[in-house]
Amino acid sequence: MTPLQAATHADPYGYYAGLRRNAGLLFDVGLGLWVASRAQTVEAVLVHPDCGVRPLHEPVPAAIAQRAAGQVFAQLMRMNEGVAHRCPRAAVQPALAGVSARQVAGAVQHLCGDATQLDDWMFRLPVSVIAHLLGFPGDQLGVVAELTRNFVACLSPLSDEAQLRNADLGASQLRQMFSDVFEETALLAAIRSGEWLGADVLNANLIGLLSQTCEASAGLIGNTLAVLARRPDLLEQVQRTPALAMALVEEVARYDAPVQNTRRFVARRCTIGGQVLEVGDTILVLLASANRDGDANPDPDSFLLERPQRRIFSFGVGRHHCPGQQLALTLASQVILALLQRQPVLPVPFSYWPSLNGRIPRFHHAAPSLHDVNG
Ligand code: HEM
Repeated sequence: MTPLQAATHADPYGYYAGLRRNAGLLFDVGLGLWVASRAQTVEAVLVHPDCGVRPLHEPVPAAIAQRAAGQVFAQLMRMNEGVAHRCPRAAVQPALAGVSARQVAGAVQHLCGDATQLDDWMFRLPVSVIAHLLGFPGDQLGVVAELTRNFVACLSPLSDEAQLRNADLGASQLRQMFSDVFEETALLAAIRSGEWLGADVLNANLIGLLSQTCEASAGLIGNTLAVLARRPDLLEQVQRTPALAMALVEEVARYDAPVQNTRRFVARRCTIGGQVLEVGDTILVLLASANRDGDANPDPDSFLLERPQRRIFSFGVGRHHCPGQQLALTLASQVILALLQRQPVLPVPFSYWPSLNGRIPRFHHAAPSLHDVNG
């Protein structure tokens, strides 16, 4: 296994434990990158001022640099350092923190709909909720969710030309749709009131909110369903005491992270974990492994609803730490409760969507086709 294959492996946690036997950073010769697996090292990399979110020589991936999707990518706070990160963040972070649990619960109940197409629903519902909070009218939410999913494909190096073309269309159409949104909700007003270097940057970062929501939330919801299907005792506990749903998704985020890893690129020669890093070096930061480090979380391989001082690395650490963490946890817990009200959670076979960092279950509801049987 490689640290990239681990993201979608059925059980990567023994492998991660093996990596953690090495203190500091380990160089993976095959992949040509440094690997951080212990909690302390993961944190040291993510807070380090000389480790940036993009390589200096390639602020936008070459495959999309000249395309519409690349123009959005270039302006995302997630993909920038310095002022292009700080200014959007100063507006977005407090605005997301201002969304109440009641608003989220209300939106989930209102938009929940029919969950029989679970795989599609897991992606669509969270994006629809955020789009609704940002002022999109009900009849546009389906399109916004679809365009967002198309746009997100540009973030993965696994995407092919057809997916990149769809990502361009998603980017252009979402930009246009954000320019036309006329209902100024409290969330949109709070974001707009920040200091923006023009409407283009603002709209790119609004698309960013939808794209950050899309796959990570689908992964959190899907991994929660996978745990519930394996653990009828937990399912019963949450059905009896719905208030436990929040602790449930928090522990799932720690135990089986939807975003298994992220990357950092060395912008200035520096030393981390006793290792000298050169400009241009890449570090693979194993968030999912840090969650299972006994130094951060005692008894790390046990799934515990009541875990005192749970440390979750799945939302990142430091200046790029996910500003949507609380919102995402509330959203996922409400989605799970809404689902439990509508249909039973049954053990269903699943694999994972192909990815180098996302861990998103793909449930197989239909009877296996001949193709599946023959592998
Ligand atoms: C409502 C849903 C969500 C929203 C609106 C959201 C938004 C964001 C934004 C805007 C950033 C960029 C922050 C920055 O660069 O300063 C971010 C980063 C991040 N988010 Fe979220 N997010 C959501 C859900 C999630 C979920 C469910 C996860 C996984 C459990 C997640 C994991 C992360 C991680 C790991 C980062 C940091 C990446 C890095 O530092 O390399 N997010 N999120």
